[in-house]
Amino acid sequence: MAKHLNKKSILITGCSSGIGLEVADGLKFRGYRVFATGRQKKDIEMLNNKGFESLYLDLNSSKSIKSAVDEVLFRTDGTLYALFNNGGYGQPGAVEDLSREAIRAQFETNLFGTMELTNLVIPFMRKQGYGRIIQNSSFLGFVALPYRGAYISSKYALEGLTDTLRLELGGTHIHVSLIESGPILTKHKTNSLKFFKKYISTENSPHSLAYKFLEDRLTQIEPQSIFTLHPNKVLEKVIDALESRKPKNRYYITFPAYLFAACKRVLPNFILDKILLMASDKGRR
Ligand SMILES: NC(=O)c1ccc[n+]([C@@H]2O[C@H](COP(=O)([O-])OP(=O)(O)OC[C@H]3O[C@@H](n4cnc5c(N)ncnc54)[C@H](OP(=O)(O)O)[C@@H]3O)[C@@H](O)[C@H]2O)c1
Repeated sequence: MAKHLNKKSILITGCSSGIGLEVADGLKFRGYRVFATGRQKKDIEMLNNKGFESLYLDLNSSKSIKSAVDEVLFRTDGTLYALFNNGGYGQPGAVEDLSREAIRAQFETNLFGTMELTNLVIPFMRKQGYGRIIQNSSFLGFVALPYRGAYISSKYALEGLTDTLRLELGGTHIHVSLIESGPILTKHKTNSLKFFKKYISTENSPHSLAYKFLEDRLTQIEPQSIFTLHPNKVLEKVIDALESRKPKNRYYITFPAYLFAACKRVLPNFILDKILLMASDKGRR
């Protein structure tokens, strides 16, 4: 890993909690100039009080994306070392119970807003001749598990655009990396439950039993283990993606992410499906 990089600027989305907040804290401590974004007034105040340059950015609003980018570039004289696309959420629910509205909302945040932001930043990175773009995907960006179809498809799509972007940015010194994490201890599950309640009608669904397990899973607090890690494990990989001379295309985190990446590479699809079904245990996991 390269030596500590002083006062390089980074824009991070979704810093109100979880991975975004952990990475923002860690990078600030490391000497980065962190533009930490949030959506609610209380979160922006909290981030300001922590000493970040805090801005409003809602990935569902093109206007807010543009004004946050304009403000960052104004403050940095048109330069930005890195973008960490972190903000996002998971829409639970069986594929056949997902409305167009629910899938659209999921894609607005996890894909469309994220890529719109990325595309606003790239011209400045091209001009300065360097940059790092880090996408917080998921191991669910390369394997599927039941009852997470909207989220999984948004992350698969993010991976598709990111892999393409990396090829198109070849030779520009703008490096693009994907974070492929398994479960991390954050508010992700609590926030997912809100979207489950908002968009999924459980009553007449053939999946109503699985939904009972799903609701239990989303309300349980998991202990830290090799399956579920603290967000500081993501921070470690983000630091590598920012500071390594040759950042990796993909950074795996947690045992399930390594395991499923290996399974996907070597196993026939029908065996992989059986393993994934076992891993999900009818929606209990
Ligand atoms: N936790 C995991 O197990 C896990 C595993 C793999 C990947 N990830 C990915 O990690 C990222 C961060 O999630 P987390 O686990 O840290 O969960 P989290 O604690 O729920 O944090 C999610 C963050 O995303 C923000 N966000 C949601 N919708 C947004 C929008 N429309 N515009 C801007 N920001 C928005 C949230 O802001 P508000 O508070 O304003 O809603 C919050 O700051 C997500 O992309 C998620 O897919 C998580």
